Amino acid sequence: MTSEFLHGLFSLTGRRAVVTGGSSGIGREMAAALAHAGAGVTVVARREGPLREAATALRGDWIRADLADRVQVHALADEVVDRHGVPDILVNAAAVNPRPPMGELTEDDWDRTMRANLDAPFLLGQRFAPGMADRGWGRIINVASQQAVRAFGNSGAYGASKAGITGLTRSQAEAWSARGVRVNAVAPGFVQTPLTEAVFDNPAKIAALAGRTMVGRNGLATDFHGITVFLASAAAEYVTGQTIFVDGGFSVS
Ligand SMILES: NC(=O)c1ccc[n+]([C@@H]2O[C@H](COP(=O)([O-])OP(=O)(O)OC[C@H]3O[C@@H](n4cnc5c(N)ncnc54)[C@H](OP(=O)(O)O)[C@@H]3O)[C@@H](O)[C@H]2O)c1
Repeated sequence: MTSEFLHGLFSLTGRRAVVTGGSSGIGREMAAALAHAGAGVTVVARREGPLREAATALRGDWIRADLADRVQVHALADEVVDRHGVPDILVNAAAVNPRPPMGELTEDDWDRTMRANLDAPFLLGQRFAPGMADRGWGRIINVASQQAVRAFGNSGAYGASKAGITGLTRSQAEAWSARGVRVNAVAPGFVQTPLTEAVFDNPAKIAALAGRTMVGRNGLATDFHGITVFLASAAAEYVTGQTIFVDGGFSVS
């Protein structure tokens, strides 16, 4: 296998990427993978400190936006286009998971979750995918979850938003694949990040979740390096509309 062969399949040199949630956890490692493969990366989140830190480490830039606020989503898209033009690669990794039991889930919890987890990926896709299609090349990677296909406790709105994002992935793929845009979702298993901190406080639960995988451990954010480069690169030319589970076999055991 030659390095030219690998370069042709996987290099992202010259590509521009936007990664929402690129300041923490899985999104941060997805952004790192894109940067290491040669892409210029813009990370997006709410808190400035982690954004600055991630952008510095990745030699990229950052934009602050609350994706649960439509006005800010549109302003973010404008800012991205002003700085770099329409990106080649969009990763929608930002998400929230308020964890009240279903019976206590308020309309406000529902709305905030849907706006950040599902509406923002929709709006950013609407904004960037037509420009990607006009250029004849683009990649959208949406981050889903096990909860797209199965229920977990105290995650009612989150699970519904993640089921929605797998449908959005298929709709976006149907709309733009014929013009060079590939749209896929990645469904993580159970991964130790700030989002799952509350669960990681319970060693018995953690061991039980690891025991439900085939590989025998819970996920690491770095487990998403390979799938991200693959889906963002020429290697995924004939892969679109899919939800790919990166979960150590959790979903099939
Ligand atoms: N960890 C898991 O086990 C797991 C499992 C399945 C799926 N996932 C998915 O993987 C993705 C990343 O999760 P993670 O575990 O890495 O979580 P994380 O470490 O908590 O990261 C979430 C990121 O999203 C940003 N974010 C959250 N709400 C936002 C908002 N309203 N506007 C802008 N940015 C926002 C956060 O930054 P700020 O707080 O600064 O805004 C942070 O950068 C999510 O889509 C999640 O649903 C995770």
